[in-house]
Amino acid sequence: MPATSEKELHSIQQPSDGYQSSGIEIVRREDFSDVTYLLEIDHPMMARAARPGQFVIVMAHEESERIPLTIADFDRDKGTITMVIQAVGKTTKEMQRDCQVGTHLVSVTGPMGEPSQISNVGKVICVGGGLGVAPVFPQARAFKEAGAYVIGIVGFRNKDLVFWDDKFREYCDEFIICTDDGSAGIKGLVTDGIKMAIEKHPDIQELVAIGPPIMMKFCAETTRPHGIKTMVSLNPVMVDGTGMCGGCRVKLSDGMKFACVDGPDFDGHKVDFDDLMNRLHRFSEEEKQSVEKWTEDCKARL
Ligand SMILES: Cc1cc2nc3c(=O)[nH]c(=O)nc-3n(C[C@H](O)[C@H](O)[C@H](O)COP(=O)(O)OP(=O)(O)OC[C@H]3O[C@@H](n4cnc5c(N)ncnc54)[C@H](O)[C@@H]3O)c2cc1C
Ligand code: FES
Repeated sequence: MPATSEKELHSIQQPSDGYQSSGIEIVRREDFSDVTYLLEIDHPMMARAARPGQFVIVMAHEESERIPLTIADFDRDKGTITMVIQAVGKTTKEMQRDCQVGTHLVSVTGPMGEPSQISNVGKVICVGGGLGVAPVFPQARAFKEAGAYVIGIVGFRNKDLVFWDDKFREYCDEFIICTDDGSAGIKGLVTDGIKMAIEKHPDIQELVAIGPPIMMKFCAETTRPHGIKTMVSLNPVMVDGTGMCGGCRVKLSDGMKFACVDGPDFDGHKVDFDDLMNRLHRFSEEEKQSVEKWTEDCKARL
């Protein structure tokens, strides 16, 4: 695979001269649920440069907010990258409505962040919770390709929300689905799956967890007594994505780091998750007002 130069990486941004009329084309869309959707975009240079664990900053149209999204998959042969998005606020809901096959994103910047450290670690557990299932997939695949024994554990509220189980089965030596109501796989949380896996394999070397902060916190607490290296992917609010604004700082037991340039992967045993969760809710009121205003504007246009 040809290496992509540093200069090339930071210039992977395509300007557009119009509202979703040019830019980066959406070539596939899949809806996993009422709120979760997949967009695959045509971007050969990004597909060539992307590594597991990295993210992009997307601007859907000229006036929209720039939002960070994990590269959930990349296909170097097809020249595409895939993002899985949860419609939680104004921008992601607007994209859910407007981003259809054949439309364009005005800019996609990246790949950003430090790639995940992948090697043949012996036995590794890759855990994804809810939307976190998508970004943990390229890591599970990369561990498998590096020769590791991969145990995939994914958690959802119920069977209707399950996605990509086929993709995981292809790369995992063992695969456990956990649902809150037991409608698919085992009834329980991903931490129950982790306990089962550790009991069966006392020689697990590493665990990677991606999902809601509370889930990652408890995954780290589950592995701590066993001394298993635990990496988590953090999602603090990002603004510039270049290490300049300080918006994405995260508190670790050995100091502060910026998730956009030092992460997003960090040692889960060092992360202050309570601080992360508090910081994630700093703008709740503004975000609520923004969605309400957008919903009113949509209704007014009908
Ligand atoms: C490294 C990274 C990777 C991410 N990957 C994904 C992904 O693959 N799929 C996905 O659906 N979401 C991902 N997110 C979260 C996504 O960026 C936010 O959901 C999105 O910015 C929300 O924008 P909004 O206008 O729809 O909602 P808002 O109403 O503005 O915000 C809803 C919630 O999203 C979070 N958020 C808001 N703005 C930002 C921002 N600029 N940066 C980060 N978080 C923000 C906050 O927790 C907020 O409470 C990622 C975030 C980070 C930092
Ligand atoms: S987003 Fe500004 S420092 Fe990371």
